[in-house]
Amino acid sequence: MFNGSLKDINKSQWLEEYWQKAPCLFKNAFDDPPDFLSPDELAGFALQDEVESRLIIQNSQTSQWTIEHGPLEQSRFSSLTESHWTLLIQSIDSWLPESHELLNYFRFIPRWRFDDIMVSFATDLGGVGPHADNYDVFLIQGIGERRWRVGAKGDTSKGTTVIDGMSHLQDFTPIIDVVMQPGDMLYIPPDTPHWGISKGESIGYSVGYRSIQTHQLLSLLTEKLAETPHHQQFFADLYRKKENKSNFFEDQLVQWAQQQLIDLSSQPELLADLMSKQLSLSKLGEYQSTNITDIQQLKEDSQIQLQQGVGVNWLIFDQKVRLNVEGESFDFDPKYLETVKLLASFSPVSVKLFNFSPDLIDFPSALTNLVNRGYVNTIK
Ligand code: SIN
Ligand code: CO
Repeated sequence: MFNGSLKDINKSQWLEEYWQKAPCLFKNAFDDPPDFLSPDELAGFALQDEVESRLIIQNSQTSQWTIEHGPLEQSRFSSLTESHWTLLIQSIDSWLPESHELLNYFRFIPRWRFDDIMVSFATDLGGVGPHADNYDVFLIQGIGERRWRVGAKGDTSKGTTVIDGMSHLQDFTPIIDVVMQPGDMLYIPPDTPHWGISKGESIGYSVGYRSIQTHQLLSLLTEKLAETPHHQQFFADLYRKKENKSNFFEDQLVQWAQQQLIDLSSQPELLADLMSKQLSLSKLGEYQSTNITDIQQLKEDSQIQLQQGVGVNWLIFDQKVRLNVEGESFDFDPKYLETVKLLASFSPVSVKLFNFSPDLIDFPSALTNLVNRGYVNTIK
């Protein structure tokens, strides 16, 4: 367990010991616990078509669970009991720019691993039930209290019951059993049992992470190949000299398939760029530009900063520093490496570091495009 501000924790040590490996409790991680949503505002989100929401209810008599997916009708809330339910709103960061402040605490994990912020409001004894997720999550206690029981990573073999599409664990042995107070936080790695039960009304914030799976990698490669049909190979059976009347499926076809996969996977730069672009997309899939900045507004003392909500990462591609933002590439000369790093970490950057002058002669065109696309804010 850690006690004290998240800002003061040695992140490298923490990552080495806990990230993806073991659950961890942080007492008093936030001096000012997140509080950017009231229960009424959350209920308002559940009424909207484009917002992903779930209402999870446990029948207090039968203990049976039910789930309702949003959008919900306003009248649904007046028919609910006073206890045993929770309302979950997914991807609040896509709808509420105020929520991006919270992400500043988690800059020690790269932006491309971040998935979304989920917010849950629970009434007394409400919760989603005992389960394990396949992603990493930080659970932050906002308002009120919740009792959380957390098992060891991998303690998920005692069976699951699937009810209404929810997969509940039948049993696990808690290694953490705590009543979380506002400002406390739990880290839950993938495949780790956890179960939170509200004590009175409470609000919790979940900062969730994502990864990439083999099938997604293969889809990226497929899409790329479809763009370049002339690079695609056809199987050829020049070796055929004997009859094959029995329709035997020949090994040569498998060898050909293996070679195709080897050739595709022997392009590390291509694989890196495909995945980097994919993982630079924020959950909304496309960026909703809120503040189009025009290059003409820049002055010699201007500072620019990447907008908080955008998905970003960088890599070296074709000897350039490639900044991928929301699936789009912006290529910089390697001399700007350190400056691009600052920009990609959401730090304010003086435009002078990119050789800005009013005539824009030496100003990198990648930055002009980035500014004009509305991905950065001009600070002054
Ligand atoms: C909750 O906030 O109650 C659910 C979060 C989770 O279990 O991942
Ligand atoms: Co969970």
